[in-house]
Amino acid sequence: MLKTRVCELFGVQYPIVSAGMGGVASAELAAAVSAAGGLGTIGLAGVGREAIHNEVAAARRLTAKPLAANLIAPFLRPGVVETVAELPIQAVTFFWGDARQWADSISLLRGRSIKTIWQCGSAQEARWAREAGVDAVMAQGVEAGGHVRGVVTTLALVPEVRDAIGDLPLLAAGGIADGRGLAAVLALGADGAVFGTRFLAAAESAAHRQYKQRVVAADATATVHTTLFDIGWPDAPHRVLRTKVIDEWERAGRPQPGQRPGEGQTIAHWRLSQTDLPLVSYTVMPPLNGVAGDLEAMPLYAGQSCSLVREILPAAAIVRSIAAEARAVIEQRLAPLAR
Ligand SMILES: Cc1cc2nc3c(=O)[nH]c(=O)nc-3n(C[C@H](O)[C@H](O)[C@H](O)COP(=O)(O)O)c2cc1C
Repeated sequence: MLKTRVCELFGVQYPIVSAGMGGVASAELAAAVSAAGGLGTIGLAGVGREAIHNEVAAARRLTAKPLAANLIAPFLRPGVVETVAELPIQAVTFFWGDARQWADSISLLRGRSIKTIWQCGSAQEARWAREAGVDAVMAQGVEAGGHVRGVVTTLALVPEVRDAIGDLPLLAAGGIADGRGLAAVLALGADGAVFGTRFLAAAESAAHRQYKQRVVAADATATVHTTLFDIGWPDAPHRVLRTKVIDEWERAGRPQPGQRPGEGQTIAHWRLSQTDLPLVSYTVMPPLNGVAGDLEAMPLYAGQSCSLVREILPAAAIVRSIAAEARAVIEQRLAPLAR
């Protein structure tokens, strides 16, 4: 047993959510997390309407359990929220910006009984999300992998957000990779935890095998918080593993976009079923399955939690081990302290 109120809110067994990671959080990954009792999220950022249908249908072929989809607000094209509202999913996680500007979308989804969650980087954004009518807030600390809205640590942010949003359900994200982290954020006032980097290294994620191996081998000091990989999404801070591209840019004196080493060069190709997409230096695209080329020149998004990710495992084993460890920490380590 490891039940919190988000289990009831989403209809899941454990308060464990896999992050919606653009490109990486495939239908296979989300379905495996959900089938194991967590809430699996399909990353749909920047995906067109037909592909959205296909991804969700692929996940639905694998599980009948609750599923979430992730959308990044600045990249929402007209009609996407309406499309998502028609899909057999139970929740939508949104990221980036002021939720009040998306109050109509939130209300549309809620009207279809789809729970809405807004990922926030500050207590102010969390208050705005509550005003916008979300069902839950996700607080993201600065140690998170991928694009990072948070500017302070998860440890400082979660209780601050809890105080700011009253009784609204709260998920914590950033720096959490195992059951110890889950138990810790429950103690801070969260009702569940979101795991990105841990599931990026799951067997089912769409990240390229070499990228997963880099994450498994890395520790927290190898991550860099930067705005360097900006082709496709300028001025948006993100956390990546340190690679030669970052070293070269620093050696060149950290020049502005447009004047950076190798700017504009094609570094890799992403081969999809019928197309071959060239990828240029400083692209936002991480190396996914099907990418060939200079993978080390691409952003290897990862959070400080990479120190705790030591093997590539099936997502179900990850869900089970996080739940078992959190329960053991609460029962054997925390509960006796209060007796
Ligand atoms: C590879 C990767 C891609 C990500 N892409 C997205 C995304 O498309 N949408 C989103 O809301 N968050 C995205 N995130 C951030 C996660 O939602 C979450 O905040 C983060 O993974 C939590 O930190 P952790 O990696 O330490 O678990 C991404 C994270 C990673 C590691």
